[in-house]
Amino acid sequence: MAHLISSIDGKLAEEFAVPSHVEEVKEKMAAFAARHAKAGRRVVLITSGGTKVPLESRTVRFLDNFSSGRRGASSAEYFIESGYAVIFLHRHRSLYPYTRLFSTINMLDALQLRAGDGEGAGEVVVDQLVLPNIARVLKRYNEVKDGGLLLPIEFNTLSEYLHLLKAAAQALSSIGSKAMFYLAAAVSDFYIPASEMPEHKIQSSNGPLQLSMKMVPKILSPLVKDWAPQAFVTSFKLETDPTILLDRARRALDTYRHQAVVANVLDSRRGYVVVVTPESRDELVVTEGDVEKGVEIEERIVSNLTTAHNRFITQQAAGRK
Ligand code: PMT
Repeated sequence: MAHLISSIDGKLAEEFAVPSHVEEVKEKMAAFAARHAKAGRRVVLITSGGTKVPLESRTVRFLDNFSSGRRGASSAEYFIESGYAVIFLHRHRSLYPYTRLFSTINMLDALQLRAGDGEGAGEVVVDQLVLPNIARVLKRYNEVKDGGLLLPIEFNTLSEYLHLLKAAAQALSSIGSKAMFYLAAAVSDFYIPASEMPEHKIQSSNGPLQLSMKMVPKILSPLVKDWAPQAFVTSFKLETDPTILLDRARRALDTYRHQAVVANVLDSRRGYVVVVTPESRDELVVTEGDVEKGVEIEERIVSNLTTAHNRFITQQAAGRK
């Protein structure tokens, strides 16, 4: 296993461009984690959104992974309500905590212009009918911002995601079992190594395009074994075929030996998930009636996992005695 992990580390360094700001971000994350752990808070690292895999170095075209970022963004809010500080590692322009609640609204439709008296352009006011609850959400957003409870970090490409996740894992290793990883991002399994990528735009005059892509190293392996071995790690398993979902989730737990897998099927992911751990299998459901009352499945996922994290911390502490 040690050999496998060092080969993944080697591959990361050689075949995935290192973002120039990775060390700076790592320091920021380490300081954030240390500050909150000192204040008695737990810290969760949430990954959210899909990764982009370029086909050309001067990128015109790329492959993307499906994910709106809603699961990650809403989960961030519920973790904060549960007393956690959140590092939100998300795809640029995917859904964001709090603002996600207004993502379908055109900002200009939500504003009204009141004529000014004289030269000025007038006064702009928010239309409460278009933006219901804006004051309540804004109040909470400002409290979270002022309390420094949310640290947003952006990625775009698969390379950025992999290096920033590694940096996050190393940054959080100092707080041991108080750290949770919640890997909700939809990560590409395939990529073209930098050394094999054409520099310029692929020309259609050369005929149909044939792509040969390599397997992305399974980052969960070094994360669990090497980079953050004391943390509570939750991965996600997304399938489109419900008949293979649970088997795949269990297989992931057997392979990586982490703490939990949240298993979901693409079409039903907003209403049904299964949280699988080595000892348990919890089905979480949100009915149409719940949805009408504003209940979201992420609230139940977060409640289930924070309870499991509590238990994990107690067991780790008992094991050390
Ligand atoms: O964002 P939304 O629209 O709300 O949708 C939410 C979601 C469906 C994207 C989310 O619930 C989800 O299932 N995310 C994980 C999707 C995924 O990539 O599954 P996977 O089976 O390909 O990967 C399984 C796990 O391995 C993931 O936790 C991933 O972080 C990890 N992985 C993946 C590839 C890779 N090279 N290394 C990894 O460690």
